[in-house]
Amino acid sequence: PATSLQDIVGHAKEYGFVFPSSEIYDGLQAVYDYGQNGVELKNNLKTAWWKAMTQLHDNIVGIDAAIFMHPLTWKASGHIDGFSDPMIDNKDSKKRYRADQLLEAKAEELAAAGEPEKAQALLAEMGRLLSAEDLTGVRELIIAQDIKCAVSGTTNWTEVRQFNLMFSTQVGSVAEDSSTIYLRPETAQGIFVNFLNVQKSGRMKVPFGIAQIGKAFRNEIVARQFTFRMREFEQMEMQFFVRPGTEMTWYNAWKEARMKFHVALGLPADSLQFHDHDKLAHYANAAVDIEYKFPFGFREMEGIHSRTDFDLRNHQDLSKKKQQYFDAELNEDGKPYGNYIPYVVETSVGADRMFLAVFCNAYTVESVGEGDSAKQRTYLKLHPALAPFKAAVLPLVKKDGLAEKAQEVAASLKSTFRTTYDDGAAIGKRYTRQDLIGTPYCIVVDYQTMEDETVTIRHRDTMEQERVAIADLKAKIGYEVAM
Ligand code: GAP
Repeated sequence: PATSLQDIVGHAKEYGFVFPSSEIYDGLQAVYDYGQNGVELKNNLKTAWWKAMTQLHDNIVGIDAAIFMHPLTWKASGHIDGFSDPMIDNKDSKKRYRADQLLEAKAEELAAAGEPEKAQALLAEMGRLLSAEDLTGVRELIIAQDIKCAVSGTTNWTEVRQFNLMFSTQVGSVAEDSSTIYLRPETAQGIFVNFLNVQKSGRMKVPFGIAQIGKAFRNEIVARQFTFRMREFEQMEMQFFVRPGTEMTWYNAWKEARMKFHVALGLPADSLQFHDHDKLAHYANAAVDIEYKFPFGFREMEGIHSRTDFDLRNHQDLSKKKQQYFDAELNEDGKPYGNYIPYVVETSVGADRMFLAVFCNAYTVESVGEGDSAKQRTYLKLHPALAPFKAAVLPLVKKDGLAEKAQEVAASLKSTFRTTYDDGAAIGKRYTRQDLIGTPYCIVVDYQTMEDETVTIRHRDTMEQERVAIADLKAKIGYEVAM
């Protein structure tokens, strides 16, 4: 049977990957904590991204900007005026919905009921009404379509309002001095406002990039689907500053490079697809998503956007500080390109969404054996670079010095690979424990080890075993990711 999101949520919790936040208080909606194995997997993902984006490129450097930024940042970026969703409340249940999602669900219902033209017409009408200044038409459409609240079952709707997704708080202790600041809804702006700092201090020449990993916050109204849509999440973003007019070449190059990255880390090519945006965000002149086939369908995992000079130009206008770059290279006329505001191609992937994709893809339930002895085996088929532990060292039995020998082997690997040691149960049970958290290699110390300094490696995916010398273990377990 196909993996359901429930299977994923259950496995993630049971084996220490992801817990609901503040669970003893019944959780906090759309907020999650990573457990002892989850944090390792997520760190490995972030390290792989950081390496692919910075270490492998001479012209990309990283930064770590603060979550709090000057409030004008969000004026310049367009988030204060434009980063909102149309909301509608049901007066009886007090339940809040995104107006567009109510209508989209209705359209899906119509399409499923064999009325695709009606569904199409509804979506078109919705698009028209949502772009109007006054949203009364959207409410009327919801009522005309007889869309009921799932909780109260009534059509007693409030008006439709735009609801900004940014979280705000106050800085300053005294009320008179305090001013509203926001928790950043994207990490990108920390890069834009540091563009010249990095360019000058690093003597960077266009084209060059700045990468960052960090938390972002959005007051998502419809928060469902586990870590797919969270209120507090982590982004891995890179802004690539290019000469105006060359942006489409870079956009295409990054599109390919980012797809290759996901495949290199084990996501199958047929579970990934590009999805071009027909409706562009306020800052973009081209945009594409890399979608992954989650248990609930193909959904956005990463966005690649050609952002023009939208951000830098707006920051220049508001800050009154020039955001220009002097390009000394000579153009066709033999003259320097001179001063300009660079264009930007951005790659932006959610660490949590990528985690979820990798986790869903790794989750494998297989039947092993035949007939009456057939059993189900569950394991995480994680790329070795991502697995929380690379290796587990297991003594066949605890006695006759095998435990001590196994601990010695584990100690010799620890500084190179994250290695665990387990002598707690029958060997088969210990293999299962490692399978469930995705450890690719189980190293077994047995009686022969005591004689000839060899061990067996049991491979997670094939369950095949091979005998190797302890001295060769590091070379055997090593891996390369072709990014
Ligand atoms: N700087 C561009 C930007 O922020 P976005 O498409 O709004 O673009 C980029 O977000 C990525 O961040 C998404 O592709 C997704 O992976 C992740 N993301 C956005 N909102 C999220 C949320 N509420 N929960 C988890 N990840 C989210």
